[in-house]
Amino acid sequence: MNKIRILGEKVASQIAAGEVVERPASVVRELLDNSIDAGARRILISVEGGGKRKIKVSDDGSGMSKDDLLLCVERHATSKIRSVSDLFAVRTLGFRGEALPSIASVSKMEITSRPEENLAGHTFKVAGGKFLSLDKTGSPPGTSVVVRDLFYNLPVRRKFLRSPRTEMTHIIDTVTRWALPFSDREFRLDVEQKRVVYFPATGDQVVRLSNLFGKEVAAALLEARENSPGLTITAYLAPPEYSRNRGDRLYVYVNKRNIRDRFVTRAVLEGYGRRLMKGQYPQAVIFIDIDPMQVDVNVHPTKQEIRFRDGRLVFRKIVTAIERTLSREFQAFVETEFSVRESSPPLFAHEPSQMEFIPASHATIQNAEPPMPTPRDEPLIIGNLGNTYILCQAREGLLMVDQHAAHERVVYEKMRRDFGQGKVQTQILLVPLKLEFSVKEAKILAEKGRLLSRFGIELEHFGGNTFLLREVPALLSRVKWEDFLSELIPDLEKGMLQDQLAVDEMFMLMACHSAIRARHSLAHEEMSYLLRQLLEMDLPSNCPHGRPIFRYLTYPEIEKMFKRVV
Ligand SMILES: Nc1ncnc2c1ncn2[C@@H]1O[C@H](COP(=O)(O)OP(=O)(O)OP(=O)(O)O)[C@@H](O)[C@H]1O
Ligand SMILES: [Mg+2]
Repeated sequence: MNKIRILGEKVASQIAAGEVVERPASVVRELLDNSIDAGARRILISVEGGGKRKIKVSDDGSGMSKDDLLLCVERHATSKIRSVSDLFAVRTLGFRGEALPSIASVSKMEITSRPEENLAGHTFKVAGGKFLSLDKTGSPPGTSVVVRDLFYNLPVRRKFLRSPRTEMTHIIDTVTRWALPFSDREFRLDVEQKRVVYFPATGDQVVRLSNLFGKEVAAALLEARENSPGLTITAYLAPPEYSRNRGDRLYVYVNKRNIRDRFVTRAVLEGYGRRLMKGQYPQAVIFIDIDPMQVDVNVHPTKQEIRFRDGRLVFRKIVTAIERTLSREFQAFVETEFSVRESSPPLFAHEPSQMEFIPASHATIQNAEPPMPTPRDEPLIIGNLGNTYILCQAREGLLMVDQHAAHERVVYEKMRRDFGQGKVQTQILLVPLKLEFSVKEAKILAEKGRLLSRFGIELEHFGGNTFLLREVPALLSRVKWEDFLSELIPDLEKGMLQDQLAVDEMFMLMACHSAIRARHSLAHEEMSYLLRQLLEMDLPSNCPHGRPIFRYLTYPEIEKMFKRVV
């Protein structure tokens, strides 16, 4: 029975046109789409010469009859859609009837296919888009497509292909990406007849994930899920400390179609939020399963871009799924690592005049405040490594805390919270500080210095280049005010400090300037106090700049180091 039909002009004209075959990996991508759409359970890809010499994709899918074979290399010949309305509810990876004709026109192609119900199959040969032969052959059910000498008839395009190695890397990347959502199907990639990738059909998503990310990251992945009618988000999220400078380990799928989409990337970044350093991308997989009517896949000729009809809903759901999971994970961590033993009142918030980093023991004496509702136990502190890191024994192993980053986070969060509640606590300096600036800086400060009073900084122009600092935020100690203000002046000049982002930056600057430095020795109480403060915070796994605050060396890792286990 024939399944393929040529689309009418009306539909054909609406399909996003453009170049389909860019490089060998695009051929692999299109042939994989076809095998998956044909319901194949096993797909074998075999590549030679970086795909320039030969690409072969064989499957055990539904196959094509003799007539379908003749049609499949015609433009706009497809079995997957019929009408314009089908184009708005695409359920298959292919829908344009463009892939095979595009590949056929730039290579020597040979398709052997047999639907299971037929006794024999057929081999169809075409080169540079020209029909060569169609012969009956014995073949197993399914389809096998061989593409030889890509761009043989377009020497310039062929010359611009990269080295076989580079092209091969793209092919491996494609196969891995394509296989990920189809864990119930087997994929195998042979390069020069050697098996390079083998994904058995286990039906287990986690196995595929570890093929993609490696064992370590895969083991750390957190699963997030968010449901609403016609939309399910399933995400596998690596904790923020596994982030990278590039988004190359962020995989996004819409109805199992791998896409590259800035919009989704933005949602993911927003979900991770301040847990990520600026310019960093998490390692994660996001599956978006959505009613096909709610998404337009006919946007770009490579089918790798899509448009959501209700983009805002999708955006919000992604952000919520990620945010909720990451903060839940942190809470769980806090609860297992620091079980309740005794209560300890917060310090900074009640000690506005005591700007120093006071040991907790003093605080307990000075504070008449009731104990906090969820007091947490102190981790067992081992010591202060290099006067820079606080080392602790935690349930899972060795916990290392960067003291500067940790304190910075504490000050930052408190400033932010106080500011949000409109009550930045200030301290009036008994003796105002006299500060000198350059002529240019003084001019800017004289004009815009008033803006700083919102943040608890009261500056008074004393004349010339001299200013008097009368009042400062109570939380900020050990700030070198001259340096701090100099660093702030460019922002003031640009009229910043208006929006939330700029305000956040202000807090970061404040926190950074007032936080205890590395190579500053801490007493035991100070360390324990800092740790407790940190655990009160909202997002304590990074400093405001996104640098990690703590790191673990787990017992299994330590045991490996000492070769107690292999
Ligand atoms: N491996 C395969 N097994 C069974 N049928 C196939 C296979 N490959 C292609 N076909 C048939 O050939 C038709 C044309 O394939 P082609 O890839 O050119 O277009 P498409 O998949 O319909 O759309 P697109 O251009 O978006 O990929 C398909 O619609 C399908 O019916
Ligand atoms: Mg196709």
